[in-house]
Amino acid sequence: MFVTITFIRWLHLVGAAALVGGMILQLFVVSPLLSGIDPTLRGKIAKKASDFYLPVFWVSMALLIITGAFVIFDRLVSLENMVFPYKNSYETFWLLKLSFVGAIGLLGILIARLSNEIRGVSQKQMSTPGDMAQNTVLENRKGRLRQAVSLLRNLNVVLGIFVLLWAAVLQNIFGLLILR
Ligand code: HEM
Repeated sequence: MFVTITFIRWLHLVGAAALVGGMILQLFVVSPLLSGIDPTLRGKIAKKASDFYLPVFWVSMALLIITGAFVIFDRLVSLENMVFPYKNSYETFWLLKLSFVGAIGLLGILIARLSNEIRGVSQKQMSTPGDMAQNTVLENRKGRLRQAVSLLRNLNVVLGIFVLLWAAVLQNIFGLLILR
């Protein structure tokens, strides 16, 4: 059991590093890099970048959920039949952590949808190159969508870092409960 749970916690840590690290790379490296690229190429490269990045995001999320379920099972079994003041706070903090993880997943879906919409607007622009008035409207729309995507990405990174803090809090509460 010791080896199994150590292995599962290791996988959980790998998932956490890949998810939060991937989001930080996307926000602080890939996005600034893309914003400096010729707009005619930007759409294609952005699509390629998200084709590579999205599997990393979803696979690490799935890994975190599966391994997290094992870890929580192991923790709750250890705490079974124990009744003391901090026990409820462990469960409450755990549920809070889960809500933040849910928010990261939902924002991930929203970011993917808005990015698709940006690509749709770019294609529309390319299909009507001569229509200046429409192009200006579409360009403004793209600008607003890009701002929304960047805001949501910032929020997701903050949430990811917050979840790491929550994991540290959970570990300390668990330590307090077990050593008590
Ligand atoms: C954004 C997603 C997540 C991140 C970044 C994350 C990160 C972490 C980290 C760094 C640890 C400490 C690991 C250790 O010391 O072994 C941890 C522990 C833990 N995680 Fe996660 N996790 C995430 C999602 C989840 C999910 C979805 C679950 C449950 C289904 C979960 C359940 C747990 C539990 C129960 C612990 C042990 C806490 C304790 O020490 O008592 N995590 N998590």
